[in-house]
Order: sequence, then C-alpha cells, then structure tokens
Amino acid sequence: MDRIRIVGGNRLNGTIAISGAKNAALPLMTASLLTDQTLILDNVPRLADVAQLQRILGNHGVDIMVGGKRSGDGEYQGQTLHISAADIIDTTAPYALVSTMRASFWVIAPLLARMGEARVSLPGGCAIGTRPVDLLLMALEKLGASVEIDAGYVVASAPGGLRGAAIEFPKVTVSGTHVALMAATLARGTTVITNAACEPEIVDVADCLNKMGAKVSGAGTPRIVIEGVTKLGGARHTVLPDRIETGTYAMAVTMTGGDVQLEGARPELLQAALDILTQAGAEIAVNNRGIRVTRNGAALNPVDVTTAPFPGFPTDLQAQLMALMTRADGTSHITETIFENRFMHVQELARFGAHISLDGETATIEGVERLRGAPVMATDLRASVSLVIAALAAEGETMVNRVYHLDRGFERLEAKLSGCGAVIERISG
Ligand code: UD1
Repeated sequence: MDRIRIVGGNRLNGTIAISGAKNAALPLMTASLLTDQTLILDNVPRLADVAQLQRILGNHGVDIMVGGKRSGDGEYQGQTLHISAADIIDTTAPYALVSTMRASFWVIAPLLARMGEARVSLPGGCAIGTRPVDLLLMALEKLGASVEIDAGYVVASAPGGLRGAAIEFPKVTVSGTHVALMAATLARGTTVITNAACEPEIVDVADCLNKMGAKVSGAGTPRIVIEGVTKLGGARHTVLPDRIETGTYAMAVTMTGGDVQLEGARPELLQAALDILTQAGAEIAVNNRGIRVTRNGAALNPVDVTTAPFPGFPTDLQAQLMALMTRADGTSHITETIFENRFMHVQELARFGAHISLDGETATIEGVERLRGAPVMATDLRASVSLVIAALAAEGETMVNRVYHLDRGFERLEAKLSGCGAVIERISG
C-alpha cells in the first residue's frame, strides 16, 4: 500500500493548477446514461473515483474514449472523456462495483428514467457516519417509480415511464437533488424540487443537462423546475474547477506561510471559506488567473465555524480547517452539522500534538505552538488531506498511511505541493 512521506517546515511558494471538480465530474459522467448519443466532458480529473465510475458505466454497456493530448495542452491538462451510452446492456449495478463509492448509487436515476428499471446495490463510500439513501428513494417514488429493497439491492421500476411531481426535501441533500434532477429530465410533465441543494456542482450538472436538451431552470436556488422531455441528445461540457481542492491548498498555504497562485480557481465557489481564511490571517487576492493566497509570518487567528450547505462553509473543508486551527494563537470552535461522526481526523491530529476536544457536534481546538511529525493513518478522503496540511507545518517527518483515500479525490497531490517547495514524496508498495 502506498504511503506519503512529508518533512514539514517549508513555506509554499509558486503556482498550483486547480483540477476539475470530482463532485461535478461524477454526476456529469452518470448523466451520460440519459442519452444514446455521445457526451463529451472536458477537464475531468484523473482520480480513483473517476476510474471507478468508468468501470461501473462500462458494466452497463457504456463506451468511454479518453481523448489524447492536443497541441497547446499543458502537461497536466484534465482529461477529455467521450462517453457513449448508445446501448445499455445491463441495468444492474453490482455490489462489487458500487460498494466503494457512494456516488455510484446515483446511476439509479438515469437508468430508471431511460430504461424504466434499475437494480443498484446499496452504496458504501467514506466512513463519515450513516449516509442513508431514503431521500433519494423518496424522490424516485414521487416521480412514480416503485422501489423495493432486495438482498442489499434497491430495485426500482417504472415500466410506463416516470411522471413529473412535486418533490420537497425535508433536509438539503446534494445526492437527493442530483438524483431527482436527472430522473425528472425524462419524466412526463413538470417536476418542482423544493429545498434543493444549491451547490455549484448541481448548477454545473443542470447546465450540462440543458445542453443535452433538458429544460431545467432555477438550479443554484432552492427551487428547481424541470419540464420533462422525451429524449436527450449529446453535448460537450467542461467540468467546473474543484472548490474543495482550491480551499484545501488555500489552507495549506495559510498553514505554512508563503505565496501561492491557485490557477483556474473561482472565488465565488468558496467565498465562505475564503472569508474564514481572511479572518485567520491569510491575504486572498482575486486575479484574472484565479486566486492568490499569501500569508506572512504573523500568528494565525482562531475562528469559530459551523459547516452548512452551500453557500455556507463546506463540510468537505472542515477537517482541513481543523488542521489549520491546531496552530492558531487561541481557541477555535468547529461545529459539524452535515455528517455525524465526521471527526475521524481528531485522533490522528492529536498524534501531531494537537489539542482538540469533542463535545457532540462541536470540536474545540486549542492552538499549540508546534506540531511534531508522526506516523498517521488516512481515514477518509477529506480527513486524509487534513493530515497532509498538519504534516506540512510539523517539525520532522510524517508518514501518512493508507493514502488510497487521497487518491480518490486529490489529483497529483504530491506533485502539486512539491512544485511549491514542500518536501513530500510517495513511497510505493
Ligand atoms: C455530497 C458530496 C460530499 C459532500 C456532501 C455534502 C459528492 C459525490 N459528494 O455527498 O463530498 O460532503 O455532498 O456537501 O458530491 N441524507 C439523508 N438521506 C438521504 C441522503 C442524504 O438523510 O437519502 C443526509 C446525509 O446523511 C447527510 C446529509 O443528508 O447528513 C447531506 O447528505 P448529501 O448532501 O446527500 O451528501 P452526498 O450527496 O452524499
């Protein structure tokens, strides 16, 4: 199993190219199942989760061609995928493929909408608390599907097709909104989703669906209206930049000090996080190439943050912020409201000498003067990268074990950080 070795203490200086967003690329690839024509996606990140979804789509009979390099492409351009679901040969998504990645469950929506049936294993994914699919199934039932659970599989059918409906989510759910949105594009009549998630990745998917011929309006607001159409066609779409990757590197620079240009980043995708970093003592400047983050040697200020659905502070940056606050000059509080049990990183951060106590949903972090490198274990995707942030500022050597979690969501992490002066290397095997 690969490990990552980091020797802390260096400031970060240079440029980091921000990749396409994993959380948009996955539902965009899934949307390809809605049409028998080719969907071309540009700026798709090279990630383990993307490769896993390619395998899952392949099992349904989808052909995926990865475009080659074009003249003028940078060395590490995102990939271009040509995805063709001309013939769906299998409407079952088996346990062996779905169990490692929760977002793969979302194939249920386009399969059901286009084929009238789907049999999809209940999902797995990151160990960050119970992550049920009840609201996704509620949405499909509202659209007229019958849904049963059979031997660990969700069996959904709508032989006569789906019909538009009013879907009101009792809590904001990104997965529920994606599923309702995709399924409703091919339903007969109008669907109105209320209390919809407003995340930028929802907007990106809605934009792509509209290019494919769907009639979606209101994405990015809590009320999305979809007029069903009988057929969707091919389209070409560029995946938006990854706001979580952007925020992660912004926090890394704030942690170590230095000056880094986050190339291609879009500030409006993570304003809440940038505001918190400004409070913490970073200087954030927006320019026409992205976002520049600088911090001089001054002390880090403590902050109080509560995670919330977009446009609030994202849960996917909570662990990274906690790592940052371990070095603040004072006491910070971080409250997690989206996922229960998303504090697996606390024990690991303690191994660096961090002082963190937990009380229900709230972590209290007393800043310490120094962290010391240690062997640590990656537990889930975002928690893993929080250990990298701590290690970059810790004295001595850190070995991060189980880095396959990192590979699920961070493209070329070691290369991006070492390019800015960090001492970081992957040890294979
Ligand atoms: C997505 C993101 C993930 C991010 C999360 C919240 C992807 C691939 N993943 O996850 O990185 O952390 O949004 O921004 O885009 N819930 C239910 N019933 C359901 C569905 C969800 O109770 O049927 C609950 C969840 O347990 C959680 C909350 O709703 O407490 C939000 O979950 P949701 O927004 O659906 O997260 P994901 O889409 O799984």
